[in-house]
Amino acid sequence: MRIAVVGSGYVGLVAGACFADLGHDVILVDNDERKLAALKNGQVPIHENFLPELLSRHRGHRLTFSDDLQEAVRLSSAIFVAVGTPPTERGEADLSYVESVAREISGAISDYKVVVEKSTVPVYTSEWVRKIILRNGTDPSHFDVASNPEFLREGTAVTDFLFPDRIVIGCDTERAANILRQVYEPLTSGSYYERSDAIPQPDRTSIPAPIIVTTTKSAELIKHASNAFLAMKISFINAVASICESVGANVNQVCHGIGSDSRIGPRFLNPGIGYGGSCFPKDVMAFRAVARECGYDFRLLDEVMRINEDQRDRFLRKVRSALWTLRGKHLGVLGLAFKGGTDDIRESPALFLVQALLQEGCKITAYDPAAMERTQETMVSGLKFAGSAYEAAAGADALLILTEWEEFANLDLNRLNQELKYPIVIDGRNLYDPEVMAAQGFTYYSVGRAACHPEGVPAALRNGAKKA
Ligand code: UGA
Repeated sequence: MRIAVVGSGYVGLVAGACFADLGHDVILVDNDERKLAALKNGQVPIHENFLPELLSRHRGHRLTFSDDLQEAVRLSSAIFVAVGTPPTERGEADLSYVESVAREISGAISDYKVVVEKSTVPVYTSEWVRKIILRNGTDPSHFDVASNPEFLREGTAVTDFLFPDRIVIGCDTERAANILRQVYEPLTSGSYYERSDAIPQPDRTSIPAPIIVTTTKSAELIKHASNAFLAMKISFINAVASICESVGANVNQVCHGIGSDSRIGPRFLNPGIGYGGSCFPKDVMAFRAVARECGYDFRLLDEVMRINEDQRDRFLRKVRSALWTLRGKHLGVLGLAFKGGTDDIRESPALFLVQALLQEGCKITAYDPAAMERTQETMVSGLKFAGSAYEAAAGADALLILTEWEEFANLDLNRLNQELKYPIVIDGRNLYDPEVMAAQGFTYYSVGRAACHPEGVPAALRNGAKKA
């Protein structure tokens, strides 16, 4: 099938490359000339597993790049709209890019097409897209608007796309649903997975991929409600972690206990310094705004956001309780990205904390396996960068772990201890076992678990997380 994907951001680029890998002919459209030139030249603008492989497999053959939206629409049966929907000051999604794409494509529709929302958009967007296309003179029998939300996570975007828990297609006509069924047929029939060059199947996925067909509005809501629910799960466990700290319980044990209930499940129950990234913060706010507009006061979501912000403040209080005054203190920081496996620093809780600590007068040397360049481009002066975790720790008064990179969970603890001026680790991602850390000579603070100290540390030095 010929497919146009409009917007070469995270979702558009990954979707375009994956559609090509499924055997479709894809035109990826963007109006940013520099981006297009870079993609045509073989550059890969985002840090994403398997994406370089897919781009080099299909670039120039099944995957082409263009700035001519109308031509791409004319050539395609399905047009996936994956342009940005940034938050406005009031927390709503700004849909002006979606509207302008809808306006522009209407002039190019002369036979039947499905216009598919791929960006995360509020419910009713499909109605508006339909209205805009009609208003610009398109024959109503020549198109349908559908919603096909994306559930990919940064860092595992390609495998999330190709091995999804489910594919949701929201269509109000059988004709549109059939086109989208065809688009995903290699995944739903399982034929993709039989190919020798298929991207390898990750753990915990089942194939073939199930497809859920809904109305367009339901699909729009599924996306917002899914992200809001996952954010709620994280805030819930962060709130439980705070209670664990107050009473001396261990949040890992609590997570294991509640996550073993198959109705709850163990995933997205990792406490930490709160969720960040380009999706959860924006989508929870947008869903809150959508609900308000629809006449429902979704206050639960306010609380989800409040707990998330509070989690960062609690971590700052923990740093203070470990180090007392902060001015002039030298801190090593591991992690700048909003989560492990990505170079994305948008709404990163790690960066928020780094900024707050710099403002308090700390001197920070940070290391991140992928996000240092991006941080350097956007961030505040005064932050130093290191070439490794050990270099970040060298001579520091304490080490802070702020992103859940796998390599940070496997450090040589002896070496780390030697590098630090004081063997204090404040872990915002619970990457280590407190007892192991204490046995290795560290004073170790984490989230939702009691602080641990090496044997023989005098009581006066044991200022636990309880005070945080
Ligand atoms: C999220 C959703 O997980 C995807 O399903 C969705 O498609 C995507 O948003 C989107 O709307 O485009 P993503 O933002 O890439 O994906 O990252 P997540 O893995 O969900 O992590 C989000 C944040 O929550 C990170 O800051 C992470 O560190 C934090 N988190 C995650 C926790 O604090 N605890 C957890 O247990 C899980």
